[in-house]
Amino acid sequence: MSSNVGYGLLKGKKGLIFGALDDRSIAWRVALACHREGAEMALTNAPIAMRLGKLEELSEQIGAPIIPCDVADDADVDKLMKEVLAKLGKIDFILHAVGMSPNIRKKLPYESIDYKFLSQTLDISAISLHRVLHYATQANDVLNDGGSVVALTYIGAQRIFSKYSDMNDAKALLESIARNYGSRLAGRGIRVNSVSQAPTKTSAGSGIRGFDSMFTFAEKLAPMGNPTADDCADYCVSLFSDLTRKVTMQNLFHDGGFSTNGISEEMMNDLVELYASKEGAE
Ligand SMILES: NC(=O)c1ccc[n+]([C@@H]2O[C@H](COP(=O)([O-])OP(=O)(O)OC[C@H]3O[C@@H](n4cnc5c(N)ncnc54)[C@H](O)[C@@H]3O)[C@@H](O)[C@H]2O)c1
Repeated sequence: MSSNVGYGLLKGKKGLIFGALDDRSIAWRVALACHREGAEMALTNAPIAMRLGKLEELSEQIGAPIIPCDVADDADVDKLMKEVLAKLGKIDFILHAVGMSPNIRKKLPYESIDYKFLSQTLDISAISLHRVLHYATQANDVLNDGGSVVALTYIGAQRIFSKYSDMNDAKALLESIARNYGSRLAGRGIRVNSVSQAPTKTSAGSGIRGFDSMFTFAEKLAPMGNPTADDCADYCVSLFSDLTRKVTMQNLFHDGGFSTNGISEEMMNDLVELYASKEGAE
């Protein structure tokens, strides 16, 4: 956010934030923004991320307990929800900011991915949203009526970005689960949405080969340029707040206009210059 001034939009609300690894993580920025707006939170990440990341720092900064949890493990997610209930009581919002593809990590081309890895990609990056919602509502009564759940996604769900490989498939499934589960929870006034964020320089983002080109392409095509992780955090705050009570089952693009723009003036000019220099060289 441009300033540290909050609006008290989440005063009295409690939440659970998945996926903060270091201070570049979108989840980290969301946790700070929610804190600024008056929310109380618990933080969670995979046990291994606890060792590699800096979650303690954030925990101290915003006074939030850390509860380790592997989102691919039913028992872990169940335990997490029980601990959230014990430590915070019932909560009002959840941020799902989890993504991982072993196929991308191992640089396997899409046409020759490992299917065990694909299962892991889908389980960790998409099915985990179902698991989280199940254990937060059906199995444990953790989420208040009128609550709000946001899952972070990418436009690879609708249009193929080759370097995003099997994560394109994972995000399509994630968005479908958000809609499907959202329809089940709507009767309780609980919203479930996905926010489709532009390329953002984070640990997960930078792990994708060709990420810099994807970032620059989006930056040039989006009339407003790429929104930052802090911009995304502010948008998430609005979705957790009472100002968006009837927004549910949506995939919401947060991309500076990228998803609807055909071509930008800047790109046209670049292409004209490119072709002119090619013709001049011939
Ligand atoms: N960075 C981008 O360009 C971008 C763009 C659009 C959407 N997103 C999405 O935003 C979300 C957050 O990613 P980020 O870019 O902030 O990167 P990040 O690396 O900071 O966050 C990804 C998180 O997922 C966690 N995670 C991985 N496996 C897990 C497991 N088994 N259990 C629990 N947690 C696990 C990691 O520890 C990490 O904290 C992801 O869903 C990502 O796909 C990112």
